[in-house]
Amino acid sequence: MENRKVRIALTKGRIENKAVDLLEKIGYDVTDLREKGRRLILSIPDEEIEVVLAKAADVITYVEHGVCDLGVVGKDTIMEHGGRFFEIADLGFGKCKFALAVKNGVNFYEGYGVKTVATKYPEVTRTFFEAKGIDVDIVKIEGSVELAPLVGLADGIVDIVETGTTLKENGLEVYEDVAPISARLIANTVSIKLKQERIQEIVRLIEENLK
Ligand code: PRP
Repeated sequence: MENRKVRIALTKGRIENKAVDLLEKIGYDVTDLREKGRRLILSIPDEEIEVVLAKAADVITYVEHGVCDLGVVGKDTIMEHGGRFFEIADLGFGKCKFALAVKNGVNFYEGYGVKTVATKYPEVTRTFFEAKGIDVDIVKIEGSVELAPLVGLADGIVDIVETGTTLKENGLEVYEDVAPISARLIANTVSIKLKQERIQEIVRLIEENLK
């Protein structure tokens, strides 16, 4: 008999709320998740599902280590972090994109000097420019990356753009799209075999709902 218990890691915040909505839509009782307070481990008792809440990169860590069977995390974190897990479904929410942005009117590729790019996502940035065969200096910034070109630290930024409001209000614009982003369902490589039936059942319900 397959062990029916499944533990799912959700990325705290916006993705968490959308994921809880999705779990409700597929017919699960999400009362405990809605009334969580400060708790980090919650349950969907009828389904023998335990839900844990974590920061995006930690969702991947918990799934990689096999202490969570499934995870819900943004493609942005997957692209930056990488790791050994299966990406099994695009959940269709949390849509935004990675883009290269510059000060309004700037031609990023003009001139011969090596350009400087500020970002919270050095790996995504490196991969993007490497594929183009363009050498850039990458400066890692922890947040509010939009500031970097404004104060002269960088020629451009690679960052997440959702509505475009942050760029616009800071006199910046998208120069080039880097990659689309949305929330993904990931699975531990062993769980997917040992809990195949259970995981397939959850994925089937989710996919039916996405149609
Ligand atoms: C992201 C990104 C931008 C903003 C873009 O930040 O870094 O600052 O959202 O959204 P917009 O296009 O709708 O204005 P996030 O809120 O994820 O947090 P961060 O500032 O810690 O990066």
